Amino acid sequence: MSSTHRIAVIPGDGIGQEVCPAAREVLDAVGGRHDVTFRYDEFDWSCARYQREGAMMPADGLEQVRQHDAIFLGAVGAPGVPDHVSLWGLLIPIRRSFRQYVNLRPIKVFEGVPSPLRNANPGDVDLVVVRENMEGEYSEVGGRYGRGFPEEMALQEAVFTRAGVTRIADYAFELATRRGNRLTSATKSNGIVHTMPFWDEIVAERAAGYPGVSWNSEHIDALAAKLVLDPARFDVIVASNLFGDILSDLAAALAGSIGMAPAGNINPEREFPSMFEPVHGSAPDIFGQGIANPIGAIWTAAMMLEHLGHPAAAHEVLAAIAGVLAKTDLRTPDLGGSATTTEFTAAVLQFLGG
Ligand code: NAI
Ligand code: MG
Repeated sequence: MSSTHRIAVIPGDGIGQEVCPAAREVLDAVGGRHDVTFRYDEFDWSCARYQREGAMMPADGLEQVRQHDAIFLGAVGAPGVPDHVSLWGLLIPIRRSFRQYVNLRPIKVFEGVPSPLRNANPGDVDLVVVRENMEGEYSEVGGRYGRGFPEEMALQEAVFTRAGVTRIADYAFELATRRGNRLTSATKSNGIVHTMPFWDEIVAERAAGYPGVSWNSEHIDALAAKLVLDPARFDVIVASNLFGDILSDLAAALAGSIGMAPAGNINPEREFPSMFEPVHGSAPDIFGQGIANPIGAIWTAAMMLEHLGHPAAAHEVLAAIAGVLAKTDLRTPDLGGSATTTEFTAAVLQFLGG
């Protein structure tokens, strides 16, 4: 059955501009094989726009992308624009207004990409971090008081709601039933005495509905250490906004390069478009050289295909990435090679066609 999807593309800043075209080429190629067409609308929302016009996106920006089937974002951030401006001016409004309460971050060690860990072998390490994406530690509740005086203070409240914890726990348990039936919940209920015991209680309540999933709860500090010592132990990890953010960057590094890590900001109810973006930032240190690793963006495109109802196409894209890594020595410089973004993408396209 043929289908057409309207995709809002926001390349953003820095290497976001270089990896978005790679992802689009792959989407078009795999779409062609599966009778799926993409219609892209590109938006220049970015720090560059902020510097020009005083805002990351127009006032009616959210309205402009609300009707799209999905949003694909490269990265935002530029030297000279504070990171909280780029984050709160674009990413957070999209995530929160479109109720993208799941941030999904799969991590895999591929054959042909040595992990910095001695004992992380291809095939063994294959996990997903399910990060709560709308509340928790990244809340707007708080303030700065007494600026400039010795008693100056800053307060930031973490916000955990029953509805918010319930839906992220359910999403994670549901996902575990479709994977290895193992789930780890990140907590810190020994140190954070109000919100984290609440998180633990609700996760335990929801667990009762998934008797086939074996699960446990681990303190975030110990969990971080175990992720390094024995990453193969993990399948689905569910975590609050802050813990999930940190754990998923750590896990991405275990897989070889932050440039390989994909992510989806998902609105599971599909009331609003979901947003797909590689985990990496705009990498101003390498921008303009054409050497950004496109794997994160291409894998992100595969996650979008899956979300849009094309699992076979998604699988082909992932197999093409794995194929290039296993069967060729083409690598971008972050993985120790000298291939350009374009060369690596061309190899993925060739695998897809074969
Ligand atoms: P970053 O992810 O941009 O870069 C960290 C390091 O990894 C750099 O050395 C960079 O060259 C390398 N790297 C990242 N992606 C790569 C790729 N695809 N291929 C090869 N090497 C890659 O993180 P950093 O330096 O902390 O932040 C730079 C800017 O990006 C900041 O303004 C930050 O706020 C923003 N940022 C934006 C994100 C987003 O749009 N979701 C996420 C993280 C950071
Ligand atoms: Mg992060």
